[in-house]
Amino acid sequence: LVYAYIRGKGNLTDGLSRLLTEVSQGYFQPDVGGKNIPVAQGELSDLAGDQPLFKALYQWFIDSGGVYKLVFGPKAFIVVSDPVVVRHILKENAFNYDKGVLAEILEPIMGKGLIPADLDTWRVRRRAVVPAFHRQYYEAMVGMFARCSQRSVDKLEGAIRAGQGSAVVDMESEFLSLGLDIIGLGVFNFDFGSINAESPVIKAVYGVLKEAEHRSTFYLPYWNLPLADVLVPRQAKFRRDLRVINDCLDDLIRQAQETRVEEDAEALQNRDYSKLRDPSLLRFLVDMRGEDATNKQLRDDLMTMLIAGHETTAAVLTWALFCLVQSPGVEARLREEIDGVVGDRVPTLDDIKAMPYLRATLGESLRMYPQPPILIRRALNEDTLPAGLGGDPGGYPIGKGADLFISVWNLHRSPYLWKDPDTFRPERFFESFSNPDFGDKWAGYRPDAVTGGAALYPNEVASDFAFIPFGGGARKCVGDQFALFEATVAMAMLLRRFEFRIEGPPEKVGMATGATIHTANGLHMRVSRRRVPPGGDQAAAAGQQREPLAV
Ligand code: HEM
Repeated sequence: LVYAYIRGKGNLTDGLSRLLTEVSQGYFQPDVGGKNIPVAQGELSDLAGDQPLFKALYQWFIDSGGVYKLVFGPKAFIVVSDPVVVRHILKENAFNYDKGVLAEILEPIMGKGLIPADLDTWRVRRRAVVPAFHRQYYEAMVGMFARCSQRSVDKLEGAIRAGQGSAVVDMESEFLSLGLDIIGLGVFNFDFGSINAESPVIKAVYGVLKEAEHRSTFYLPYWNLPLADVLVPRQAKFRRDLRVINDCLDDLIRQAQETRVEEDAEALQNRDYSKLRDPSLLRFLVDMRGEDATNKQLRDDLMTMLIAGHETTAAVLTWALFCLVQSPGVEARLREEIDGVVGDRVPTLDDIKAMPYLRATLGESLRMYPQPPILIRRALNEDTLPAGLGGDPGGYPIGKGADLFISVWNLHRSPYLWKDPDTFRPERFFESFSNPDFGDKWAGYRPDAVTGGAALYPNEVASDFAFIPFGGGARKCVGDQFALFEATVAMAMLLRRFEFRIEGPPEKVGMATGATIHTANGLHMRVSRRRVPPGGDQAAAAGQQREPLAV
């Protein structure tokens, strides 16, 4: 432990590895895991190496199986990489688990927002928030996604002009700006305008995100000590940043309340969004009849969605672009689809339905780079894990307080669940796959996910929990469609107009993890104008004949 601590102190760049070295500091619970769970043979120092944590967890998965335990003296945690066991934890016995250490870290920022909320608060708020995502809202949002993406297009055009034909741009940082502007407008109708400028509020948002990352990666929760937010400069800054954002949110909440028009959920879902001055989730939450959430609760909800929906969506776009420019076949097929469907028009919700390959490409980005790569749970009561796949006897009893890590990375890269798991191949979502060795325990994934089935994008249901980019069960992401529509619109508009090439060797892009997987050094790309084939008129005509989209 001492070795890991000292070594980690000097070297660690991977946030989750650092978090795990916390086992010696009291973050994690005593070893109350099942006695028979295979114990991974490794050293704590393996976690403290330079590779990201999820890679160390992958090697142990291959060596020790879909459920294994890492033990550090009196403490332990259980790593789960098996879809049947994951389905049990996330869906079948979801209410036996809470967010454990994650909730402790996020509570000072998100309060009682959906992610860290205790179960009683969660039930009430989830019921209020889910209806706010409905068809009319998405229609309005898709228009807003296009307007914000157009700002990015204009900015790239400007950079290319200034560079006389091409420019080197950090696309990760562009996607972060785009993501911030979109989430601000979609959630509380506030235009950060971060694509084109920086403001005190934007600085405060990035400051808070940075602190969230710091807290999930530091050894001692020193910020809980009395006066830490006065005496420690970064904690004082965090308090100031939080106040800037809270003041801004309080102001928006007050304005929404002053213009409240109370209606029941159904009436709100049918309202004409083109007539609303401030179409946003906040508008819906404030106007809903019988919803009398306190201002503090509303602020927690908004802050949670701001943080949950910003970096995550930017990361999907970053890794999708990174992968697709290195796969010429994928890139060509995508451009052909976008040219044929959208052409020069602004993409609509119906266009999204007509672009299955683009949707599969974004799914493939999330398969290879899941955000976040690990989900954290703590058992509220004893439980028995079911038998996993491939000869795992299962039946492991786990005790109250056990810490579990669901490795989304392992699931998504499992050689038992996917053909060529390390290859970027969106086509895979059009093929079915089921491993005959697993009998009827696991259904395998079905191609209807992106070819007109019930869901538009590949998801956990169609893959029977082999693919869980948004989690699953009761605590599944509420913003999944929002994020995917956003990414689809942005990608269609950018690929229609620009060519992107990675500047320098792709390996230099690197990987680092905080709450999400981001690049180590930015995604620097040479961007130039694309010679665009005509197609706008054809696409517009085709668009009029398409079936309306059921959301
Ligand atoms: C929960 C991923 C975008 C709001 C989650 C979870 C995942 C996830 C994996 C489940 C966490 C767990 O079970 O521990 C993503 C990804 C996104 C994204 C990959 C982008 C591609 C968004 C957006 C919003 C949002 C845009 C809001 C507008 C939330 C909330 C929860 C959540 C509120 C908590 C749900 C609950 O516990 O009831 N997200 N998310 N997310 N996400 Fe997202």
